[in-house]
Amino acid sequence: MRVLLLALALVAGLGCFIGGESQAQTPSLTVTDRSASRTLSRAELLADRRLQTVAIAYDPVYRRPMTYRAIAVADLLKGAGIGNDDHVQARAYDNFSISIPADLLMATPPSGPEAFLAIEDPAAPWPAIPGTTKGSAGPFYIVWRGGTRAEISSEYWAYHLATLTVTDSPFKRWPGLAVAADVSAGDPIRRGLDRFVAVCMACHRFNGEGEGEQGPDLARPMNPVDYFQPAILKKYLRNPSSVRTWPEQKMPAFDQDNLSDADIDAIVAWLTYKARK
Ligand code: HEC
Repeated sequence: MRVLLLALALVAGLGCFIGGESQAQTPSLTVTDRSASRTLSRAELLADRRLQTVAIAYDPVYRRPMTYRAIAVADLLKGAGIGNDDHVQARAYDNFSISIPADLLMATPPSGPEAFLAIEDPAAPWPAIPGTTKGSAGPFYIVWRGGTRAEISSEYWAYHLATLTVTDSPFKRWPGLAVAADVSAGDPIRRGLDRFVAVCMACHRFNGEGEGEQGPDLARPMNPVDYFQPAILKKYLRNPSSVRTWPEQKMPAFDQDNLSDADIDAIVAWLTYKARK
């Protein structure tokens, strides 16, 4: 009996191992536009004629200069019938999901920053992401050349990428996020909403709206402004571990370049506005 159990355990363990291995060896990216969906394997992408070597002066995920084998996103999505107001939902295999404005992704110099799909070659693996246990940013990773950090949200550097989907803007898809017309154009509440969509929604939903799933919903059952003192909430958003820490903590700290003090104030203003509605 004991021998049988041991054999079963071995088979089960081996099954997991083989499953994990084949996953890791044949990663693929699914690209969906308004009319069709295609799944591209890593081998196929690495053999693409449009593959080029791209040097990134400062990669905020690796926190240093990096060089990648990559395809311009404008090339990858050419012919996808992308409209002016469209967005591309970039989803990672770990439930991170960010909506990136398509005009940013499709921009080409000299008009703006350039987005690339970097592909990790198993023959030349990337290093592990520093300060985490997440392994490398591969097998697929969106990197940016040019553009300011205010323009390119830290969350637009989407790693562990699994799918790219052309879709409507988040404001159209999730009307519950909106600010009423009587809030003036220059009100920080509006800026707060924009920053929330560009940064926080990668991991958080709001009242069920959004696609992020790494972190808790920030309206349901309670909005953080209802239980955090405002000054502590701002301190938490700048650096969560300055308020509490534990080994599994995942919420990133944001430096001034990624989220200014004015941005943090604006996000808290928007959260407060929504809590009072
Ligand atoms: C990369 C994913 C990620 C991003 C981006 C992110 N968060 Fe989080 N956040 C988390 C996770 C995960 C938690 C749960 C605690 C943890 O594991 O660190 C969390 C926790 C929180 C909490 C605490 C909730 C509680 O009750 O303890 C607040 C408030 C919060 N996030 C707000 C924000 C805001 C606002 C932004 C945008 C500026 C943001 N987060 C961006 C992942 C993220």
